[in-house]
Amino acid sequence: MLAPTPIQAKASSSASELYLSQARASSSTEDCMALYEKWAASYDDEVGDSAQDYVAPVLVAQAAIKYGLSGGASNSVILDAGCGTGLVGVALAMANAKAIDGIDLSPAMLSVARKTGIYRDLTVADMNRPIGKTDGTYDLVSCVGTFTLGHVGPDPALRELVRVTKTQGVVVSTILEEIWVPAGFKAEVEKLVAEGLVKVVTEELIDYVKGHGDKAVLLILEKI
Ligand SMILES: C[S@@+](CC[C@H](N)C(=O)[O-])C[C@H]1O[C@@H](n2cnc3c(N)ncnc32)[C@H](O)[C@@H]1O
Repeated sequence: MLAPTPIQAKASSSASELYLSQARASSSTEDCMALYEKWAASYDDEVGDSAQDYVAPVLVAQAAIKYGLSGGASNSVILDAGCGTGLVGVALAMANAKAIDGIDLSPAMLSVARKTGIYRDLTVADMNRPIGKTDGTYDLVSCVGTFTLGHVGPDPALRELVRVTKTQGVVVSTILEEIWVPAGFKAEVEKLVAEGLVKVVTEELIDYVKGHGDKAVLLILEKI
């Protein structure tokens, strides 16, 4: 029997499950961007629904405040990489963060983020390529929900996030559990450690899309 097409799948699952699974099934950067252009308007409602219970943005913001904002949130310059509609930025702003820049592949997601009013600057960027930011700019770089199936791979993205972080600054990210080893994230972190660029502050499993039982590796790297 043939596998269901996305349209067939729509009949038997909610729209939110459809978008989430379609996003993870993206076969190219273009595919992924097209999906988020459609999803942007309903993304926050869907991922916030109790059926999905996407807890990662708040958990990461809490971890960032604990490990990454030692100089105080209001004095820190932050990059939210793959910021989407701004869920992480909003959580950080609630902790008094003031200077938050965002990058994302999808103009439609960025346009929702812009409406939050909490980002200093929002720019389109493809994290599967070098990102157009200066070395050593940020105290904290967050990247939540973007290291997942069909989105952004470990190389060059992890190295790029480290590059734009200040010495002693931190990169706080989630990596979907099922791709942590197979997609090479763990190996790339070991490489960055071996090169003396970072030390691992934490590498623990956390709830992610809790309603689905999904877990992610919460990875916190300190730039040396
Ligand atoms: C699941 S959403 C997460 C958004 C936000 N960080 C959050 O936690 O709600 C994944 C985001 O990754 C972005 N994305 C996908 N591929 C990307 C790429 N190659 N470069 C930059 N962003 C990308 C999507 O546009 C989307 O906004």
